[in-house]
Amino acid sequence: MPEAGTRAGILGMGSYVPERVLTNRELEKMVNTTDQWIVERSGIRERRMAAPEQATSDLALEAARKALEDAKTGPEEIDLIITATNTPDSLFPAVACIVQDRLGARRAGAFDLLAGCTGFIYALSVAAQFITSGMYRRVLVIGAETLTRIVDWEDRNTCVLFGDGAGAAVVGPVPEGYGLIHTRLGSDGAGGPLLHMPAGGSRMPASRETVEDRLHFVRMNGREVFKFAVRACGDGSLEALEEAGLSVEDVDFLIPHQANIRIIEAAAKRLNMPMDRVLVNVDRFGNTSTASIPMALEEAVSLNKIKDGDNIVMTGFGAGLTWAVSIMRWYDYKKRELGIGN
Ligand code: UT7
Repeated sequence: MPEAGTRAGILGMGSYVPERVLTNRELEKMVNTTDQWIVERSGIRERRMAAPEQATSDLALEAARKALEDAKTGPEEIDLIITATNTPDSLFPAVACIVQDRLGARRAGAFDLLAGCTGFIYALSVAAQFITSGMYRRVLVIGAETLTRIVDWEDRNTCVLFGDGAGAAVVGPVPEGYGLIHTRLGSDGAGGPLLHMPAGGSRMPASRETVEDRLHFVRMNGREVFKFAVRACGDGSLEALEEAGLSVEDVDFLIPHQANIRIIEAAAKRLNMPMDRVLVNVDRFGNTSTASIPMALEEAVSLNKIKDGDNIVMTGFGAGLTWAVSIMRWYDYKKRELGIGN
């Protein structure tokens, strides 16, 4: 058991996207849209689509296996699995339980966490509590989605935006001076109707009418969510940095939730961060919700972009409405011997 008060950090990462690429040109044939509109208004060029036989747990499992391999951790070493998702295989059981079984993580507890597209940062902060309290040594945190299953392919306002994918991180104790420095979690439940799926829950159970009225799909007021997102990512990050006693100059990389390049650029501008210090994958994968931040982080880590000791700021927003900021001093688990308490 690690000592209470130990910092939590990332010890391995993995990501997975389905093979099938859906381009803007293909969408032009499905709804009244153009490649030019999608690129100019969102920055998205293409996104991935799960194969018919793939559900969210299949994507989550692929990312999880890679993360365990990267962390040189066996499934039996995992104490807890948290999956952040908005698109579970079914309403229950949890995706995390399916992954736990298929990984063979016999000792692990498992649950899903629902916090819209902000879910990965929420899950990371929950994982960190188990590490810093000394209760657990290895927590597997996953963000996984099959959003193409819940978008209305007749609604051009939403269907061009979302994609499928998964990212995973093994969280554990890291040496002094590294790991999660500060987390800020936020919620504005009054904004719930701005981004939701109306039917299929206890308020409006599935019926012939709900299906005919297309109520089992994502409904979004894009303009309002856009304004909230810029505020949440920009001002939220500035507030979190101040609380952590850091300034924008101390930040090496900003990793925003990938919903729209214009939101990302506006947040970067608010922070006065040049775009070469902002990680972007929305052009290639669209909005993958809870998977977008771990996928972007995993890519930067595998390209050795992020160096030991770099300060990274992850910032997300989404259904709830929720938002969150997480500040982490990067521990280069690939190059260093594991320190005390690992
Ligand atoms: O992960 C969190 C969830 N989602 C988000 O973060 C999304 C946040 N919002 C956005 O990214 C943007 O608001 C959108 C990309 C959704 C929309 O961009 P916008 O610049 O806010 O456009 P708009 O909603 O103000 O719509 C402008 C026009 C409308 O036409 P009219 O009413 O001006 O005639 C829309 O009907 O663009 C039209 N439009 C489209 N046109 C072509 C909306 N979607 C499309 C489309 N193709 N796919």
